Amino acid sequence: MRWQRVHGRHRLPWQGTRDPYRVWLSEVMLQQTQVTTVLDYYARFLDRFPSVQQLAAASQDEVLALWSGLGYYSRARNLHRAAQAVVLSHRGRFPDSAAGLQQLPGVGRSTAAAIAAFCHGERVAILDGNVKRVLARAFAFDGDLSRAPEIERLWALAASLLPAQGIESYTQGLMDLGASVCLSRAPRCEACPVASVCRANALRQVQAYPLKTRKLRRSVRHSAWLWLTHKGQVWLVPRPEQGVWAGLWSLPEFDAVDEALQALSSLPGEPQPLAPFVHKLTHLDWTLAPLHWPLPARLPKAAAVCLQQLWPDGRWVTPSAALAMGIPTPLRRLLTAADPSVAV
Ligand code: ADE
Repeated sequence: MRWQRVHGRHRLPWQGTRDPYRVWLSEVMLQQTQVTTVLDYYARFLDRFPSVQQLAAASQDEVLALWSGLGYYSRARNLHRAAQAVVLSHRGRFPDSAAGLQQLPGVGRSTAAAIAAFCHGERVAILDGNVKRVLARAFAFDGDLSRAPEIERLWALAASLLPAQGIESYTQGLMDLGASVCLSRAPRCEACPVASVCRANALRQVQAYPLKTRKLRRSVRHSAWLWLTHKGQVWLVPRPEQGVWAGLWSLPEFDAVDEALQALSSLPGEPQPLAPFVHKLTHLDWTLAPLHWPLPARLPKAAAVCLQQLWPDGRWVTPSAALAMGIPTPLRRLLTAADPSVAV
């Protein structure tokens, strides 16, 4: 806690407030995303939605549009649902305990604890990815963290360490230690306030913790993206509610370029296969092959009907309008590469 006061972070935009709305928003954005990335999004979000009521009243499309580029879009959908739950079921007030907060969509045990500690001084433990690493090293914890009982043991350890007073700076200190000192690849033990009691450090085995188990198996996938253009507009369709980029707007997707060509063989114009590129997601290397298909300005009625039948929710939008919607990052890149002047 002393270290946090001197070396920790104090001027982040979600600090210095006990407003649960602001703290909750920051904690959800900070799940799986670094502070530097979150800063801009956080400011824009609060600017557009200064209160939980305004967020709850927005459309999911608009929330996804503001989230576009932050990744892990289920966070944005849950954020929106949680705002609606707060407004409809809690009369606009966030639950004031970690247990209550954890009932909200997208608020897990650690996020709920962080909000309750920062807003209400509740004495509860957090255990996000960074804190797991800090504790696993400090105690040379050799459990397999892909197993629920071992995670539970680490939660119990985390809870046993809480200070009687000052949970706010303790919690922030753990976070700051994980983000700036107890780094995954290059830990800075020389700058660590607990180096002298760190078991992994004493064993000269800091890098060995947490134990690497059950290796994340990356998978690969190949798809074709149909990039239809007509009079300067692009054809966008909503992605399914399940899976990667759920609920975002994107190009129609096929398993292969040939399938797209077959499905649309009645359309006029000259389809042009573009160079495939690989988009890396957490568990997946996804090769995407764009098929650019400029349609003639005078589009036969049958062609328009064919598109509406294949994608009843599809829409023609200008590239700049597309960039203001919730769209996957590789589509954002494709559209801005095609015409840098549309970049926002
Ligand atoms: N990561 C998760 N929560 C955080 C916070 N409140 N400050 C900095 N980084 C964080």
